[in-house]
Amino acid sequence: MDRIRIVGGNALNGAIPISGAKNAALPLMIVGLLTDELLILENVPRLADVAQLQHILGNHGVDITMSGKRPGDSAYQGQTLHISAKRIVDTTAPYELVSKMRASFWVIAPLVARMGEARVSMPGGCAIGTRPVDLLITALEALGAEIEIDGGYVVARAPKGLRGGTIAFPKVTVSGTHVALMAASLAKGTTVIENAAREPEIVDVAECLGKMGARITGAGTSRIVIEGVPRLSGARHSVLPDRIETGTYAMAVAMTGGDVTLQGARPELLQSALDMVAQAGATVTPTNEGIRITRNGAGLSAVNVSTAPFPGFPTDLQAQLMALMTCARGTSRITETIFENRFMHVQELARLGARIHLEGDTATIEGIDRLKGAPVMATDLRASVSLVIAALAAEGETTVNRIYHLDRGFERLEDKLSACGAQIERVSG
Ligand code: UD1
Repeated sequence: MDRIRIVGGNALNGAIPISGAKNAALPLMIVGLLTDELLILENVPRLADVAQLQHILGNHGVDITMSGKRPGDSAYQGQTLHISAKRIVDTTAPYELVSKMRASFWVIAPLVARMGEARVSMPGGCAIGTRPVDLLITALEALGAEIEIDGGYVVARAPKGLRGGTIAFPKVTVSGTHVALMAASLAKGTTVIENAAREPEIVDVAECLGKMGARITGAGTSRIVIEGVPRLSGARHSVLPDRIETGTYAMAVAMTGGDVTLQGARPELLQSALDMVAQAGATVTPTNEGIRITRNGAGLSAVNVSTAPFPGFPTDLQAQLMALMTCARGTSRITETIFENRFMHVQELARLGARIHLEGDTATIEGIDRLKGAPVMATDLRASVSLVIAALAAEGETTVNRIYHLDRGFERLEDKLSACGAQIERVSG
């Protein structure tokens, strides 16, 4: 199994191109199921999760082709996917596939909306908490789907099509909002989503649906209104830049010191995270090219933060901020409010010498002068990259094992970091 070997201590200097957002690319690929015409997605990141979803959609009869590089394209340019769901051959998403990637459960929405039926395996447990799908099911029921749980599968039926309705989410859910948007776009009549997620990836998906002929207003606010249409057409859409990748590299530069421009990054997608990076002691400057992060000389300051739905501080950057705080002056507190078990990085950071005390949903971090390299184990996607950040600043060598998590969500991580002066390499076997 591949490992990543890092020798810490180098400052990062240069430029890092930011890829398309994984969390927008996945739902956008699923949106392709809503139309029998061609959906062309540009700037799709080259990630294991994208390849996996491609395989899952193929099972439903979706043809996905990738266009080759054009003259002048950079090595980092995202891929362009041509998605054609002209004929859906199977409305069942089996356990073997759904259990590999939670987001693939979302196919339930376009399948029931377009085909009148879907049989999708429950996703099962996940390393960062129980992550149920009850709110997704209630949303589909509010649009008239009849739901039955049968042998571990959620079976949704709407033989006469879905109809508009009111969906009032008791808590903010990204997955619930994606499912509601997709289903309501093809439902008869008007749907109102109350307490909708406001994440930029929701806005990106709504924009793409708009290009396909969906009638959606209010995406990006907590009240979204959808006028259903009988069919959707093809479209061409470019995936927005990845705010989690952006925030991760911003924290890496804050950790090691240096001067890096995050090319193509958009500050408005992660203002709360950039505020934390600035409070911690780095300088954050929006430029024409993207976002420039610098830290020279001055030490890191402790910050306190709670994760929250957008525009709050994202749970997907919690582990990375914790890595940064291990070397801050003073004591910081980080509270996780979205997922109940998202602290697996704590014991691995402790192997590098970090002093972290966990109590309930809050981690208290006593900053130390310097971490020391050690072998560590990646446990989930964002936790893995927090170990990379810590290792970049640690004294000596760190090996990060089980890095398949990293490949799910970070495109060419070691290339991007080593181009900025990090000593990082992938070791096979
Ligand atoms: C998405 C992101 C993930 C991010 C998360 C929160 C993708 C592919 N994944 O995950 O990276 O960490 O948003 O920003 O976009 N919940 C329920 N019942 C449900 C659905 C959710 O109780 O039916 C709970 C979850 O357990 C969690 C909270 O609601 O505690 C938020 O979950 P949600 O926003 O739906 O996260 P995901 O869409 O799974």
